[in-house]
Amino acid sequence: MTTLLTTHDIARIVSAHGLPQVLRRLEAAITADFRRWAEFDKVARVASHSRTGVIELMPVADAQQYSFKYVNGHPANGLQGLPTVMAFGVLADVATGQPTLLSELTITTAMRTAATSVMAARALMKKSIRQNALHGAGTMALIGNGAQSEFQALAFHHLLGINKLRLFDTDPAATAKLVRHLAQLPGLDVQVCANTREAVRGADIVTTVTADKRNAVIIDADMLSAGMHLNAVGGDCPGKTELDAQVLRSSRVFVEYEPQTRIEGELQQMPADFAVTELWRVLEGLDPGRRSDAEVTLFDSVGFALEDFSALRLMAELAQGLGLGQRVDLIPSMADPKDLFSQLSPAAAQRRAA
Ligand SMILES: NC(=O)c1ccc[n+]([C@@H]2O[C@H](COP(=O)([O-])OP(=O)(O)OC[C@H]3O[C@@H](n4cnc5c(N)ncnc54)[C@H](O)[C@@H]3O)[C@@H](O)[C@H]2O)c1
Repeated sequence: MTTLLTTHDIARIVSAHGLPQVLRRLEAAITADFRRWAEFDKVARVASHSRTGVIELMPVADAQQYSFKYVNGHPANGLQGLPTVMAFGVLADVATGQPTLLSELTITTAMRTAATSVMAARALMKKSIRQNALHGAGTMALIGNGAQSEFQALAFHHLLGINKLRLFDTDPAATAKLVRHLAQLPGLDVQVCANTREAVRGADIVTTVTADKRNAVIIDADMLSAGMHLNAVGGDCPGKTELDAQVLRSSRVFVEYEPQTRIEGELQQMPADFAVTELWRVLEGLDPGRRSDAEVTLFDSVGFALEDFSALRLMAELAQGLGLGQRVDLIPSMADPKDLFSQLSPAAAQRRAA
């Protein structure tokens, strides 16, 4: 039998543990898996592009477990009442190939992406930002205030102590929605800005999480200031970027899985020999990460299958602890594994109905 986790189950997990704790657990799980990078069979995701968006499959495996995520990116979906990003995923047993978990991953993707952003920022941002944050002065600009934005804001607030947020979205209703949700947190100082430039001015960290199916320029190099950390989340597909190429030339660039980011990330704008560092090397202490307080660091995030592998495993564990999840016969249970045909008999249908 396979365990099914629905949107309702994931919401119950978050409600039982609290979002900050789930984000913390996700950051720890993703960090632990990135630190055993060599143990994974990795591949760049498989993308199917259309005029309106992309549908992607994201597989990864270690010696015990295999996972894949189905995810889309359709920036104009809102006009049809659908989210830009929708996802579900599977965990399977490598030894037998049996799928053990089928889970929602739309909410979980937003949480794992925010946890990954924090993991990168924790490793790369200058120490003084951390100190400022501890004293209530860490500032983040958040450009793009759609479905992912609350998760990014709350992860940086709860896990890194960022408590000043400067928001901008071309859609004022999206920003108003974010402000409404963040108003429930008394320790958070939220400022709505008139444009990206105003939001970015004086920020320690800049998170871009916009959706548009084109090479947009959200951040220009002249918006950067010394020591800034950029968390560029929204440019994650060929022909879909957020940063001017000069921003990459002015930064030290860190990526999840280089072969995938070369195709999909801000990095697609740069020549093949443009130097980048995979984040796992920093987490493992093989690369120093930021080299000076003045350097601008850029996490060119595209979302890598390993983050979903970690998230699926954690959600399975948390669901089990709470007795959540439904056992479904995604794969037939057979007394004789060679007798698949009997599954179609009226007797088998009656057994299943019972
Ligand atoms: N890197 C990752 O791991 C990862 C994971 C999930 C989503 N994403 C990407 O993050 C982006 C946001 O996803 P979402 O689910 O929040 O989408 P969404 O459609 O809900 O929100 C995107 C927001 O960006 C705003 N926007 C578009 N152009 C803008 C501009 N020029 N300036 C300011 N705001 C602008 C839109 O008005 C919208 O409110 C998407 O591009 C998605 O593909 C990346």
